[in-house]
Amino acid sequence: MLKFPDKFYWGTATSAYQIEGGIKNDWSEAGPHYDAGIACDHYNRFEEDFDLAKSMNNNAHRFSIEWARIEPEEGKFNQNEIEHYRRVILALKQRGLEPFVTLYHWTLPVWFAEQGGWLDPKAPEYFARFTEKIVSEYKDLVRFWITLNEPNIYAPSCYLQGVWPPFVKNFFKTIKVAKQLVKAHKLSFEAIKKIAPDLQVGLATNNTWFKGIIKVFGDYVYNHWFLKKIENNYDFIGLNHYFTHSLLSAVNHLKVRQNTKNNQLTDMGWRIIPEGIYHVLMDLKKYNKPIYITENGLADAKDEKRAKFIIDHSKWIHKAIEGGVDIKGYFYWSLLDNFEWDKRFWPRFGLIEINYNNNLKRIPRPSSKVYAEICKNNTINIL
Ligand code: FCB
Repeated sequence: MLKFPDKFYWGTATSAYQIEGGIKNDWSEAGPHYDAGIACDHYNRFEEDFDLAKSMNNNAHRFSIEWARIEPEEGKFNQNEIEHYRRVILALKQRGLEPFVTLYHWTLPVWFAEQGGWLDPKAPEYFARFTEKIVSEYKDLVRFWITLNEPNIYAPSCYLQGVWPPFVKNFFKTIKVAKQLVKAHKLSFEAIKKIAPDLQVGLATNNTWFKGIIKVFGDYVYNHWFLKKIENNYDFIGLNHYFTHSLLSAVNHLKVRQNTKNNQLTDMGWRIIPEGIYHVLMDLKKYNKPIYITENGLADAKDEKRAKFIIDHSKWIHKAIEGGVDIKGYFYWSLLDNFEWDKRFWPRFGLIEINYNNNLKRIPRPSSKVYAEICKNNTINIL
């Protein structure tokens, strides 16, 4: 039996646009393929969903606040939406779930996108103003704040590969956006600390275990560039982990292979290598900061691999704790099946299935019982 540290946080992660429904932002305006529509209608069903999280013995939950709802017009904040998220936060707390709030999970208010999005010279200031508003409202309710989700995925996907809005393919603009995101994080961090210095602020970075000849480049550019740039401007690291890459797998990864038979792959075609999380965590040890695993999970519609995936990853996380890494929590991605960006709804990441053909019915998958046991006991059984 492997025991996790006392007060370890066990939860799940979500993001607003992927589950809430009824959001108008830069994605919904980019065309029908990018419009999440009603998604899981979590906006109206959050209490039911948090009951499910509680029934899995979770003691924390990560979610994001949709900037487009709060500030639909530049500088004008929507008080009704602020009250909505207050109810969301209170619903979590009433169920004993510690809220971890992401301020920016990739989607933008339409006005911001129209003014040039992250390329607008004033973009970091706009984000800091939004941060200030939100954190002043909820400072007494929320202790953990995540400024940006995966800037190291966002910048290249939107500005280099051009697969997500605003669909730009320009190396120099990618660098510019990356720098703007660094600035946005720093201003946001400062704004939060000004409001209440004891609030805990981090950023969620998507770090990968690189092997072979791409290791030097991958570590330097992809894993560490943002972390180095924001040094002294964060209290914890949020780690989102999904990939292990060699040169060949990195190339293959770009081609999604659905419904593959290979048992080493998820439905997204991503390779399952639980050991990867250990190497990534050990690599983050040098920053000497607490680490929360803010995302880790897989698309597995048949739920054949999910329980083993969670157990195996937990074992390697435990090994990293034994190796001296200060890991304080784990959030499985995701609570519910959801809108997986340009892939839309086919990838099934949820511990809870959503039946899109039957009134968005929530159906807990068998693996959710396995996760519930881990969360309840704060241990994993070694088989
Ligand atoms: C991460 C994103 C999250 C989700 C998972 C599968 O990179 O942060 O929104 O799409 O991948």
